Amino acid sequence: MKAKIAILPGDGVGPEIVAEAVKVLEAVARRFGHDFEMTEHPVGGAAYDRCGDCLPETTLAACKAADAVLLGAVGGPKWDALAPEKRPERRALLTLRSELGLFANLRPAKVWDPLKTASPLKDEIVARGIDLLIVRELTGGAYFGKKGRGEGGKSAYDMIPYAEHEILRVARVAFEAARCRHGRAVAPRPPKVTSVDKANVLETSRLWRETVSALHAAEYADVALEHLYVDNAAMQLVRDPARFDVILTENMFGDILSDEASQITGSIGMLPSASLGASGAGLYEPIHGSAPDITGKGIANPIATILSAAMLLRHALGLSGEADAIEQAVADVLAQGLRTPDIAAPGGVQTVSTSELGDAIEAALIKK
Ligand code: IPM
Ligand code: MG
Repeated sequence: MKAKIAILPGDGVGPEIVAEAVKVLEAVARRFGHDFEMTEHPVGGAAYDRCGDCLPETTLAACKAADAVLLGAVGGPKWDALAPEKRPERRALLTLRSELGLFANLRPAKVWDPLKTASPLKDEIVARGIDLLIVRELTGGAYFGKKGRGEGGKSAYDMIPYAEHEILRVARVAFEAARCRHGRAVAPRPPKVTSVDKANVLETSRLWRETVSALHAAEYADVALEHLYVDNAAMQLVRDPARFDVILTENMFGDILSDEASQITGSIGMLPSASLGASGAGLYEPIHGSAPDITGKGIANPIATILSAAMLLRHALGLSGEADAIEQAVADVLAQGLRTPDIAAPGGVQTVSTSELGDAIEAALIKK
């Protein structure tokens, strides 16, 4: 297959981890006989430093023209003082999400067998299994709502608008994902969607709950549906993560819950994500940020980005065998005991650098 992949390394550890994912994609191309045209484009603070814009027109155009986009991370203290609309997070990431129409963000969180001891949860909780998918709405809510200051800067507001059609389209993704996960389920359970809101307080959440319930009754009665308030969901994630299959939630709740979900699996350095729209190029990125504190030290975990590349192959290019091969190579390398410091729990493991871990995953992939 021929495919155009736009590569956006970005800031902080972005270039280090993206280099490893590119290495892995090249290995996939060699092993399976594909032709991936990967071209790098500046984004985030790095782009601002080069041309005064965190999302240059050429980068946006390249993303629109590509079959998929692989992104590292954007942002860092160097650009914190920029005006809010110029900052890497808003100008680069949020604009990319809205310009590409990426309303559904899939964030799978599971505990990899060899990493069970890296989870901060008690063994008996981890033993019940953690394998969930967060479906986060990505182009609505507080991130894109009207915001501003009043009283000469002494008061501020952020609106959380949601329209029924925005809720419906992302809820559909969650119900479909639940059906699909059930087909390939590791654990024998009925497919289930937990819709998370704050309907005891917020009007948008009441609309969210009504809309999800109506869609469920009309089209997805084979999937179990439960509603949880977000505070309760945050608590249940550490008390009994095995109760979750697919979590469907709005933009900001999804941002918060996905960091929590990542940590219970061992490290935020392990979680990939796929941002999808109705059609066209999706964006694939680790859920973690640019990690300025560890930038340039060669210790960042490249696995979240490598697994994002696997999601890219599966969702954007329909190459599920190739995606499985990457996931298997990651599992093999973890089973060999190779770890970056963030997942190096004591006992029988060897701590390696970002590029050594990438090399090992590449080698495991080619060896097959
Ligand atoms: C994420 C990040 C972003 C978000 C930031 C960098 C704007 O935290 O992708 O989870 O809040 O969406
Ligand atoms: Mg986040």
